[in-house]
Amino acid sequence: MAHFDFAEHPGAGAYYVTTPIYYVNDRPHLGHAYTTVAGDVLTRWHRQRGEDVWYLTGTDEHGQKILRTAEAHGVTPQEWCDRLVEEAWKPLWQHLEIANDDFVRTTQARHTERVQEFVQDLYDKGEIYRGSYTGPYCVGCEEYKLPGELLPGATEDEKLCPIHRRPVEWLEEENYFFKLSAYGPKLLEFYAADPGFIQPAAARNEVLRFVEQDLKDLSISRSTFDWGVPLPWDDKHVLYVWVDALQNYITAAGYGADPERFARLWPASVHLVGKDILRFHAVIWPAMLMAAGLPLPKRVVANGWLMVGGEKMSKSNLTGIAPTDLTSHFGVDAYRYYFLRAIPFGTDGSFSWEDFTARYTSELANDFGNLASRVAAMIGKYYDGVLPAAAAPGAAEQAVADALTRAVAEADRRIGEELDFAGGIAAIFEFIKTVNGYLTTQEPWKLAKSPEHRDRLATVLYTAAEALRATAVLLNPVMPSAAAKLWDSLGAEAALGPLAEQRLAAVADWGRLPAGALVTKGDILFPRLEAHEAPEAPEEKTAS
Ligand code: MSP
Repeated sequence: MAHFDFAEHPGAGAYYVTTPIYYVNDRPHLGHAYTTVAGDVLTRWHRQRGEDVWYLTGTDEHGQKILRTAEAHGVTPQEWCDRLVEEAWKPLWQHLEIANDDFVRTTQARHTERVQEFVQDLYDKGEIYRGSYTGPYCVGCEEYKLPGELLPGATEDEKLCPIHRRPVEWLEEENYFFKLSAYGPKLLEFYAADPGFIQPAAARNEVLRFVEQDLKDLSISRSTFDWGVPLPWDDKHVLYVWVDALQNYITAAGYGADPERFARLWPASVHLVGKDILRFHAVIWPAMLMAAGLPLPKRVVANGWLMVGGEKMSKSNLTGIAPTDLTSHFGVDAYRYYFLRAIPFGTDGSFSWEDFTARYTSELANDFGNLASRVAAMIGKYYDGVLPAAAAPGAAEQAVADALTRAVAEADRRIGEELDFAGGIAAIFEFIKTVNGYLTTQEPWKLAKSPEHRDRLATVLYTAAEALRATAVLLNPVMPSAAAKLWDSLGAEAALGPLAEQRLAAVADWGRLPAGALVTKGDILFPRLEAHEAPEAPEEKTAS
């Protein structure tokens, strides 16, 4: 097919972020939600900057794993996928307030038709040839394995997948192959020219080591089952599910269908992936794009795993805790906050009820929630809810404003650029601590007792409310509902307009919340937790 000429149509360059598309053989678990929430916070952060943003997630619906699951349930694979997508995946993302702009399903015609064109193009260019594959395959990973990476099984013949710890299957099939081996040197050249392409550094090193060995050609078709995209030149074969799936990032962006949209979105700014699927994204996908003559994504960022009992949380070793079990206890805002705050992005970590409860109580309820309710209560009590002007600002107030400037710069760099969510959120909460410390030192409840301190009282309460105004904006990407309640209680909507329209570039401009704003008590942001009988908890402590 004719390729789009980027030189003639320089894209507006949206900030385009993708999650992996998830297999719908089962319902989403905490591990899947982890990446999707991270992408949501990242894209909301960039929206808050005022950028053109596009957030894509979706589902991976072809392949043997899904076919077998559907068969085991006595339904067609399409019925199975439709049911899971509508009853489990989409509702969870909605519940977690994921603001994705699109949801791609690999069984949609907008995807399958473009995929056929893409592979036909590679075939026509001589990038694909016919051969035969003999070797191990893990259906759980949907991945051809290298004999050297397998674990010993129960018998001499049995070998286990290192990720699923289940026996791999032995394939002997006539397949079509993509000439991946030809791309090793070009890939290495590309990684060297753009050291930030794969993050974090450990992930980059792993990929470099892998590509420095000789790459083998990739089998890209299967002929023993038919749940997949048929090869346009040989319909006895369906496309290998990964080669189909990776293309979602371009098909959903308008590749081959909507040139203007494609120019705006592609290349993607960030592919978020779990570390187990790094090679597909950092080796195979770039090589496929090189072969097709398309630009490569700007960054591939690998996150670690949520672990249970020392192993990757998965269907077979779930904690027994679904995301909604946690949100019904802690709330959606705290859920979004907790995993990003507690586990440094890029490393493995474990969830525990104790750790979640401790952070909820000390950071969310005490440090943040109490600050918001105390300030609103004092403005209600001493000023009938009408925000007073800062009559006599001095050094203490300047110190709060300076702390805000620092917090904004640090959070913006860490969350917006480095995807260091834990560090960025910590910077915002450092600022909250500063404001709490300021109130403790200024003691507005004492100032309120003597009329000669009226100016100081007004100044202190204005300063605290103005600090909360900034906090609501900074936390909006992480905890949209709590931030909206706070915005509402500060009377900021009427004074400054919608929260989503507050720009990060202006958040540290001191004095934006005007005197006269109507402050109300509003809902408690993080209510005291109900007593809870924790289900059996995973063993390890959270890596924080
Ligand atoms: N369908 C492929 C991805 C195709 S992208 C073109 C796939 N799907 S998956 O559902 O098995 O996994 C999707 C993502 O979920 C992966 O990034 C994987 O790392 C992530 N996680 C699955 N379990 C996880 C944890 N326990 N912890 C964190 N992420 C985990 O692979």
